[in-house]
Amino acid sequence: MKPTDLSYKLLKVATHLLSFIPFGYVVFAIVTQSRLLGADPQEKVLHLMGLWSLIFLLTTLSLTPINRIFKLPIIIRFRRAFGLYSAFYLLLHITTFFVFYLELAFAQLLEETIERPYITLGMMATILMIALSVTSTKAIQRKMGTKWRKLHQSVYFIGGLAIAHFIWQSKSDLNEPFWYLIWLIVVLGYRLFYKLRTSN
Ligand code: HEM
Repeated sequence: MKPTDLSYKLLKVATHLLSFIPFGYVVFAIVTQSRLLGADPQEKVLHLMGLWSLIFLLTTLSLTPINRIFKLPIIIRFRRAFGLYSAFYLLLHITTFFVFYLELAFAQLLEETIERPYITLGMMATILMIALSVTSTKAIQRKMGTKWRKLHQSVYFIGGLAIAHFIWQSKSDLNEPFWYLIWLIVVLGYRLFYKLRTSN
């Protein structure tokens, strides 16, 4: 499949439409004031946006292993888009927290970042995510040369920080974060295995 093929263009449109579904769901629920967001809509939005940021991040990390195993180079073209969708949902996650929980008090955001370790981890991941998003264009990639690759390798670290943030805030129910931890271990484990195999 070439980038000029109609099937590629359709796949691209479908990917973007599907990626907006969680956002559309939240907007629809708010606009129609339906019960879709449950008894505590703010909490539900905070959790949904955090979860989808993590899902897009792990999907981004899964594309290279999937390509290596199933020989599907076309999916690599979607890596940047999925990374940016992760950043988009992260922005909504943080905005929900800042607007509805902290009522726009910036000083309190700093306080929470210092006092709550799971927010500290989330903030570290966010700073790195911003750095990767703003340097994600082809032009900046060319300008930065080898430094770009090094910077973008921090995406694995972001994955670790995001999972640690998820586990830490879960308090007692570790069932859900456990499956995301397994997902991260599988994609990182495969990369390590591939590196060791090809270096021999
Ligand atoms: C890459 C960065 C981040 C990711 C992937 C992420 C993801 C998540 C996930 C998956 C959850 C749990 C959702 C659930 O229980 O269904 C969560 C909860 C939460 N996150 Fe984040 N997050 C990130 C950064 C941040 C930052 C920077 C903040 C604050 C400024 C933040 C604030 C919160 C809060 C307040 C909760 C809910 C805690 C609770 O219910 O007690 N997150 N996040």
